[in-house]
Amino acid sequence: VTQPILAVALNAALDITYYLDEIAWHGTNRPAQVIERAGGKGINVAHVLRELGAQPVVLGFVGGVTGGMIRGELAGAGIDDRLIETAGESRRTVAVVERAHGDATLFVEPGPRISDQEWDRLLAAYGRALPGVGAVTISGGIPPGVPSGAYARLLTLAAEAGVPSVLDSESAALRRGLGGRPTVAKPNRVELEELLGRPLPAIGDLLDAARELRDQGAESVVVSMGAEGMLAVTPQGTWKVVPPEKLSGNPTGAGDAAAAALALSLAERTPWPGRLVEAAALSMAAVRAPVAGTFDEAAYANYRERLRAEPLP
Ligand SMILES: Nc1ncnc2c1ncn2[C@@H]1O[C@H](COP(=O)(O)OP(=O)(O)OP(=O)(O)O)[C@@H](O)[C@H]1O
Ligand SMILES: [Mg+2]
Repeated sequence: VTQPILAVALNAALDITYYLDEIAWHGTNRPAQVIERAGGKGINVAHVLRELGAQPVVLGFVGGVTGGMIRGELAGAGIDDRLIETAGESRRTVAVVERAHGDATLFVEPGPRISDQEWDRLLAAYGRALPGVGAVTISGGIPPGVPSGAYARLLTLAAEAGVPSVLDSESAALRRGLGGRPTVAKPNRVELEELLGRPLPAIGDLLDAARELRDQGAESVVVSMGAEGMLAVTPQGTWKVVPPEKLSGNPTGAGDAAAAALALSLAERTPWPGRLVEAAALSMAAVRAPVAGTFDEAAYANYRERLRAEPLP
């Protein structure tokens, strides 16, 4: 039996989705359907892991009435919740999906400010959880009030405990997190371009960029390229997986599914390039599912069979 996987979700949210035909700006809108779900990248990872039959443990911050709703949803999904209560109110995100355009507009609240004492409580809970887990994922941004070196600290503690880790973040949180020596960093193309401050149009540019991230501390780097697939630059070799077809669906959360698959592969000690195939197959199956944090099981089984990792020089 694989050990539980710790999903760090400092920025947990209640994701609200309004479905309507077309948004009337400056008018009154009456959504035809409303869906509320716990979200944020770390929680998406936990949802996907649970659906895979793994045992995710969620660690992060929640507060207020919204925090209670997040916890209720996680309990319903059978996810082990070690969330720390904060004095502030948990954040919400609102997505307005317009059926006429098949498009969404997103509103994202910043979330509550975390106090030094609350951060210390999280660090203590993290230290208690680490010895029993098979892998750690660290996803998303760092909430207001949390020290900017937080991810490097969490990743260093994981490495010291012998627990492999996946870092899926952007901007300063990604840059500083690399110093904590994650086992795998998973930027998408845009995150990599922003981090290095230059466009990365060709596969060769992305490979060079991934090597720079390895120099900055990541043991391996997986670059996700949306419909173009995924690259892995690892100590064991370099591989590419290309989707057999361009998928239509909901790409939001596909990267989170990739992070979940990478963490599970690390916990199960699957070697490269199998980890990359798992991440690509699960993320593509996530595109085929309408809600972030879920995937299409038939599609997953199908892609696992069909996808091949192509070695690159
Ligand atoms: N349109 C698509 N067709 C086929 N595969 C896709 C498509 N979009 C995404 N994928 C798969 O999902 C993976 C992750 O997608 P992407 O690079 O968009 O991640 P991301 O931007 O980190 O996503 P998010 O952060 O919203 O979860 C890709 O590497 C690919 O395997
Ligand atoms: Mg992402």
